[in-house]
Amino acid sequence: MMEQGDVAGAPLARLREMVRGARRIAVLSGAGMSTESGIPDFRSPTGVYRTLCSEEVFDLGAFRRDPSQFYRVMAPLYAAMARARPNAGHEALARLEALPDKEVCVATQNIDGLHQAAGSRNVRELHGGLSTMTCQRCGRRLPAEDFRESLLAGTVPLHPGCGGVMKPDIVFFGESLPEMALDAAMAAFMRADLVLVLGTGLAVYPAALLPQRRRRGSDLAIVNLTGTPLDDQAQVVLHARTGEVLPLLV
Ligand SMILES: NC(=O)c1ccc[n+]([C@@H]2O[C@H](COP(=O)([O-])OP(=O)(O)OC[C@H]3O[C@@H](n4cnc5c(N)ncnc54)[C@H](O)[C@@H]3O)[C@@H](O)[C@H]2O)c1
Ligand SMILES: [Zn+2]
Repeated sequence: MMEQGDVAGAPLARLREMVRGARRIAVLSGAGMSTESGIPDFRSPTGVYRTLCSEEVFDLGAFRRDPSQFYRVMAPLYAAMARARPNAGHEALARLEALPDKEVCVATQNIDGLHQAAGSRNVRELHGGLSTMTCQRCGRRLPAEDFRESLLAGTVPLHPGCGGVMKPDIVFFGESLPEMALDAAMAAFMRADLVLVLGTGLAVYPAALLPQRRRRGSDLAIVNLTGTPLDDQAQVVLHARTGEVLPLLV
């Protein structure tokens, strides 16, 4: 059964009840979770793929052939992420996790670190994070902060130790997901009473599989501005902003 409506309607009340009643909650978040923090998503009309670049830029082979294109395109995104602060949605999820009777796991496709900045602790970064970088020649891992100037200027950051190209610890197309994060997230989704899909179009696999692997009998709720392929399986669908809906739930 599916219900749709604006933020003030019955679906919201229903979702509130679900959140109140659930003990184990598994969240899958995506780029939409952070648009209200000023970071563009990828696939919306204002998203990165329409305004800055194509998916090719995040292809591992393309990066290895010529990292300069990636860093040129990423400069404004790095700047946006450096400025960004958690929004009301991130903060509400952190409060939810802090409630004594809840067990919350946030599996995120985001690389911006904003869930952690808001205070969420059980966060699984399915696509890695921008905060660290690894040298492609010697394998040394360093804080991205060390390369701040180069990242903001859009030039290729080189490891001062060996001259190798630094690559952010994010998952490119053509790379596999961090196994530990994916396994932990999968376990949480298989145990959850309630699965929340927040700000993701569910177009990127295998992350999009997580809500499909939910336990039989568990509830599925989706808060996303636009439709997703799982809308017709969800008990509640709200085509609304996560930053507006989530504070009303906790
Ligand atoms: N903030 C980030 O870290 C960031 C930003 C852009 C892309 N990415 C990466 O891009 C990939 C894209 O996948 P995706 O599905 O997360 O992004 P996506 O761009 O495919 O989809 C984002 C979805 O969020 C919705 N949306 C936008 N603003 C919203 C809001 N305020 N409230 C509710 N919904 C909103 C859009 O309608 C869209 O369906 C991910 O792998 C992720 O790693 C990360
Ligand atoms: Zn090196």
